Amino acid sequence: MPLVDLDVPILEEELPADAERLIREADRRIAEFQNERCLPAFVASDFVGAYRILRNLSEGVLIRGRRFCEWGSGFGVVTALAAMLEFEACGIEVEGILVEEARRLADDFGLPVEFAHGSFVPPGAEERVYARGTYSWLTTEGDYAYDELGLEPADMDVIFAYPWPDEEAVVGVLFEHYAGPGAVLATFHGGSDFRLRRKVARRNGRGGSRNSR
Ligand SMILES: C[S@@+](CC[C@H](N)C(=O)[O-])C[C@H]1O[C@@H](n2cnc3c(N)ncnc32)[C@H](O)[C@@H]1O
Repeated sequence: MPLVDLDVPILEEELPADAERLIREADRRIAEFQNERCLPAFVASDFVGAYRILRNLSEGVLIRGRRFCEWGSGFGVVTALAAMLEFEACGIEVEGILVEEARRLADDFGLPVEFAHGSFVPPGAEERVYARGTYSWLTTEGDYAYDELGLEPADMDVIFAYPWPDEEAVVGVLFEHYAGPGAVLATFHGGSDFRLRRKVARRNGRGGSRNSR
């Protein structure tokens, strides 16, 4: 089943106070974390832009349900923002220390989210992943994360990822193969560049535009 790009206008609206507070505190903790440690695989995305994208999705008719998963969740900020928008939100992250930070942040804000420690690459997908090349940071180890969540990739209605440039294609390939029909993939590509795609039964001819805030 192919993916079609969705052209969704991103409005530059004010964020609610609780989302602003969360982002401010997350930015503070991330800066402190990065001062103390070197974890180059982790770079934070544009949380304000991600919130606006998710709010738009959460209010519209583009999504088939409210189960959200962040692939490579880092500090878990986008997952936490999704929970504020009443998604049933979870994240999968391969670096244990980031899983701890994500759980701490969500707990401190009283948000009902779940973080699994492991890989978002599903079991059996290794060949598909390495057929696309080699990667600076993407790993296929730890393929028990979905078991920990008690969910399959096909259960997710919305998946968010901030892939490194060498992972962009394979994230699309994994989503296309493992997500369910109608699921939406939201990706961040640096700057103010977000992309939204949906898995459809057959091509409907819509074009490949991107979304900027
Ligand atoms: C560019 S960071 C984005 C972090 C977060 N999504 C955000 O937007 O702030 C990519 C994250 O993916 C994680 N990662 C890389 N490969 C992974 C895998 N196979 N499974 C789970 N996490 C992975 C890295 O450890 C890193 O935290």
